Amino acid sequence: MGKHKLARFAENLTFPNLLQVGYEQLQQEGFQWRGRWAEYFGNNHPIVLELGCGKGDYTIALSKENPGCNYIGVDIKGARLWRGAKTAHEEQLHNVAFIRTKIELITSFFAEEEVSELWITFPDPQPKKPNKRLTSERFLSLYRHILKPESAIHLKTDSQELFEYTLGEVIPQGGHSVDFATADLYASGYGGDATAVQTFYERMFLAEGKPITYIKFFM
Ligand SMILES: C[S@@+](CC[C@H](N)C(=O)[O-])C[C@H]1O[C@@H](n2cnc3c(N)ncnc32)[C@H](O)[C@@H]1O
Repeated sequence: MGKHKLARFAENLTFPNLLQVGYEQLQQEGFQWRGRWAEYFGNNHPIVLELGCGKGDYTIALSKENPGCNYIGVDIKGARLWRGAKTAHEEQLHNVAFIRTKIELITSFFAEEEVSELWITFPDPQPKKPNKRLTSERFLSLYRHILKPESAIHLKTDSQELFEYTLGEVIPQGGHSVDFATADLYASGYGGDATAVQTFYERMFLAEGKPITYIKFFM
């Protein structure tokens, strides 16, 4: 492993806002803040998750815009989380946390109905493994446990395949209602948070001239 990554992993251990727990400890002891996030943040503001957050661009940007909500970025890659955790730490963003985990384990980190909204930002499209797609029914059934009823889920992706799969298969099969969907977000005239923030991956896709798709639907 590169020196650069190791240095980031070491610094990650010093960030109070970056929470990571080994699999065995999680199974044996559970996660300290599950069901107690209001205590962690010192308030009972709504909790918004960014899944597959990478450097946490949405988590950081939305936390500054909406101090009345708490934002938690979730990703398995520590070297990417380092960026978001360091920014939140340096800028003293008290409504931000990051969790290093596989999203498959998300119900170990949040109790029933503890979360109010989800952003899924440029997830790996998993063309050959539908079950690994973060909008598959397998994952939605995990999100259902932790989300309040009728919570909004936002998907931003450059993958037309993932967009069509989510909009054309998963959403109708699950009986979810769609608030807005577009195959070309920046041509659609849609505003708000969907266009106000551009993630690290999104900027690369935009530079390649790829249209960005967006769906907002309800659990
Ligand atoms: C293409 S990157 C996008 C990162 C960021 N959202 C962005 O737009 O810049 C996908 C991210 O999802 C994370 N990821 C994919 N599958 C995951 C899983 N099952 N559990 C946790 N993280 C996952 C990867 O580690 C990676 O950082």
